[in-house]
Amino acid sequence: MRVFVAGNLGYIGTTLSAMLHERGYEVIGCDCGYFSDGFIRGNLKDFVAENMKKQIYKDVRDISKSDLAGCDAVVDYSGLANDPACDLNPEWTEEINHRAPVRLARLAKASKIGRFVFASSCSIYGKQPADRFATEESPLVPLSAYAKAKIGVEKDVRLLASRAFAPVFLRNATVFGVSYRQRFDLVVNNLTGWAYTTGKVKLLSAGTSWRPSLHVKDAARAVIAAIESPHDAVCGESFNIGMDSENYKVIQIAEMVKEIVPNCELEVGKQAPIDPRSYRVSFKKARERLPLFKPEITVKRGIGELYEFFKEIGLDYKTFSEKRFYDVEAIKGLIAKGQVDGKLRLRKRR
Ligand SMILES: NC(=O)c1ccc[n+]([C@@H]2O[C@H](COP(=O)([O-])OP(=O)(O)OC[C@H]3O[C@@H](n4cnc5c(N)ncnc54)[C@H](O)[C@@H]3O)[C@@H](O)[C@H]2O)c1
Repeated sequence: MRVFVAGNLGYIGTTLSAMLHERGYEVIGCDCGYFSDGFIRGNLKDFVAENMKKQIYKDVRDISKSDLAGCDAVVDYSGLANDPACDLNPEWTEEINHRAPVRLARLAKASKIGRFVFASSCSIYGKQPADRFATEESPLVPLSAYAKAKIGVEKDVRLLASRAFAPVFLRNATVFGVSYRQRFDLVVNNLTGWAYTTGKVKLLSAGTSWRPSLHVKDAARAVIAAIESPHDAVCGESFNIGMDSENYKVIQIAEMVKEIVPNCELEVGKQAPIDPRSYRVSFKKARERLPLFKPEITVKRGIGELYEFFKEIGLDYKTFSEKRFYDVEAIKGLIAKGQVDGKLRLRKRR
């Protein structure tokens, strides 16, 4: 079976592509390569040679029907992947995070590809009452352009659902863990990195917000389950992806990091702003209706795994702070160096 993965060179995309390849899929990757220099395990060239049937270096806005030829499923894990990156320019966000995935889904349907899996996010729940767990039926409270675009894709692509075309929307919790292309701007990775490289678990917000977390391999397992489940179980459905037990306040995550990483202390900035986003999420629907998805890795285990990995590679503060591991900083760098045009298209392959 052949799977087209848009965003295959990203933090989730690399882990997903490697797991699909290991499972016997032929993986056609498509990515413009914003973060080609962001590999922390190995390098892009070896990664592509080892895991990809074919690698297409292209902007997701320019994918054509011929790129999808022979594919049985399309997975879209591309796009600007957090609030700060989406806040850089509303037009880029609308084009890359909303119009491009809708166009890709239409191309997939026109190419008679039966399955389209989209990376949505639990952040579309925005602010929820602390005493309730958000379900797929809960009111959506988008607090950012990022969240609005995710909702726009779900709404528009769901209309394409048919007997022959099953779009599936995976509302991922905030991801953590070691990947090939690494990110340190995600809460668990960031706090563990601070602790390991400086001895301080540095909280930028007061840490009172609720945030569900999901290991990067479990995020990939969810995609595989969405590809392999029967049409009727998933067609047009949104699923929260995570584990009920892994809903924590950010301060609780910081305390776990302090427990696991030796010799570190908690530091909460005095003027730390309160993050307006706060949501606890129920993952019951995926448990019941996406039974092939079996998440395995808790936040505690993930922190331990990050700690062991940092020891193994001898991570220091200098490397931990490099812009290539922080999406918005990396993109600002591409802009500053003139490596992208006014529409955020890379001028040449990196
Ligand atoms: N990481 C998380 O916590 C999380 C949580 C929920 C949802 N998601 C979603 O999952 C997806 C992947 O996230 P990630 O953490 O791997 O982010 P990432 O930034 O590491 O990866 C995104 C990839 O998409 C590529 N890309 C971006 N814009 C592109 C364009 N115009 N054309 C071609 N390629 C483009 C980038 O080069 C990059 O390789 C995103 O859609 C994100 O919104 C992520």
